[in-house]
Amino acid sequence: MCSIIGYYGDGPAAPILVRGLKRMEYRGYDSVGVATKSDHDIALKKGVGKVDDVNNALHLDNLPGHIGIGHTRWATHGNVTDVNAHPHPSSSGKIAIVHNGIIENYDELKADLQARGYNFKSQTDSEVIANLLQFNYDQCHDIKQSMIRTMSKLKGHYAFVAMFENGMLAAARYHEPLIVGIGKNGFFLSSDVLGFIEKTDDAIYLDNGEFVMLDRIGIQIYDFEGNAVKHQVTKVSKEFADAYKGDYAHFTLKEISEQPDTIIQAGDKSADAINTATDFIKHARNIYITGSGTSYNAALVAKYLWQKHAKIKVEPIISSELSFTPETIDPNSILIAISQSGESADVLEAVKIAKKANAKILSIVNILTSSLAQESAVVIGMGCGPEIGVAATKSFTAQLGIIYKITRKLCDGCINVDSTKISDSVGKVLSDQTKIKEIAKELKDVQDIYILGRAVHYPIALESALKLKELSYIHAEGIPGGELKHGPLALMDSSVYVIIINPNDFTYNDTLTSAREIKARGAKIIGISDKPSDVYDHWIQIPTIDDALYPLIEIIPIQLLSYYSAIEKDTDPDYPRNLAKSVTVK
Ligand code: F6R
Repeated sequence: MCSIIGYYGDGPAAPILVRGLKRMEYRGYDSVGVATKSDHDIALKKGVGKVDDVNNALHLDNLPGHIGIGHTRWATHGNVTDVNAHPHPSSSGKIAIVHNGIIENYDELKADLQARGYNFKSQTDSEVIANLLQFNYDQCHDIKQSMIRTMSKLKGHYAFVAMFENGMLAAARYHEPLIVGIGKNGFFLSSDVLGFIEKTDDAIYLDNGEFVMLDRIGIQIYDFEGNAVKHQVTKVSKEFADAYKGDYAHFTLKEISEQPDTIIQAGDKSADAINTATDFIKHARNIYITGSGTSYNAALVAKYLWQKHAKIKVEPIISSELSFTPETIDPNSILIAISQSGESADVLEAVKIAKKANAKILSIVNILTSSLAQESAVVIGMGCGPEIGVAATKSFTAQLGIIYKITRKLCDGCINVDSTKISDSVGKVLSDQTKIKEIAKELKDVQDIYILGRAVHYPIALESALKLKELSYIHAEGIPGGELKHGPLALMDSSVYVIIINPNDFTYNDTLTSAREIKARGAKIIGISDKPSDVYDHWIQIPTIDDALYPLIEIIPIQLLSYYSAIEKDTDPDYPRNLAKSVTVK
């Protein structure tokens, strides 16, 4: 998603902004731009491409001045073009803005402003903010008043930073993240602490419906009515400063490799919250669990585990579906929301709907300062550290780690969540990647991959398909083993590869039979199992572990396979095309 950044201080603004944008690259984007306030006017450069490429071509970091704003754009309104990139100047050029979010009523605002003589250059919804601010400022010549009037007209959700000709920065937050960084020699505004963590770990998290004004006198924060608001300065966790690749070629590989530690540490700092959550789950009449993408797949694993081991029924809901089926939520129930970022718009919307029905919100979230954490009665921190690769890897297994810890409590210790064994088993899969790399070479030209799993291995099949799609751009589909004969068998021929998730548990024999049926149609079989079989063209061996724990282990080789397939196809595994790390628009 778009990242916004602003700087007001003693240092040269442009290189600081470019560096901050670079650290937020993981959020996903297609174009980049910077504007600074020099002695006389606002200077601006922007273009389509990666931060480094656009900077090499245009020298964004050479823009003069000590005040500036910057942006990476993830297109929603208008094509990916230089003109549509941010910052957007107002038609007089006296104000420039960067924006993250969507302005729903931009059409009518734009028509009104055009009728009043304000010109638009881009196809974006964002440009309307620049001209609306300009219009209001032209009326009242007061920055605070022009901000209040502007926000009162905007519909949608947004965080924006505006730079005025006199050098003042003003920024507003409405259902999109915006954080103020307080440095020794300057102030920062950013979508993410990573935008300024190299310079300061003192931050103020603005609440929804607040705006901030920054100049040499300092910071003033107000609500949208203009009342002054006071905030504590928070210390940002130092772990965010570790967001470097180290010796790894990519963040994705680093994050996959961290899993022997991150799985077993998951939720360690939230022991009380896990106890409280378990208590709520035990006593609730209705339990819903929600998430998007990978986090939804983790929710599905919870359904299977809690049902099997604790005889507790939970209904998984894809977050984006709940807006269309709000009647699903019974009053006075609980909703467990799972999200790495805690900023996925669909998840936040689901929470809003559940709250309307008086549901209690429990969350499993990695970013403890996120909107989801703020909306939740009980927050379980995943504690897996920053995940920069756009594809979720260690966050998925950290979510599972917490779900397992809750399962053990729900069933009074009926499953043995043996940390050493889990960590060693994951380590074993990671220790020899030779075979996985060889298979990845073969997958390079494959068009379709199907992944089969039964019971709790079915959500792992879905997660495997998601990873393959995102990282290798190969069409992949997760199928519950028993469904094969009800349709997918028609697709099996010699051009197809099928991954069989087949640990030696109660699903083993049936899944092996499915593998034989597929093999008979000529497809190639990759078996993920602790037991060899002649049906596998490739056998990826996983260690034997307690039956209940296999899902934690079997996803690891598929994460690696997806990663190495991306390498074979020469695509960037950290930043898959068209995707964003936190999807803050609906
Ligand atoms: C998959 C992936 C996405 C996210 C989804 C939810 O690899 O990264 O599918 O899982 O966008 O994101 P969070 O968990 O941040 O709500």
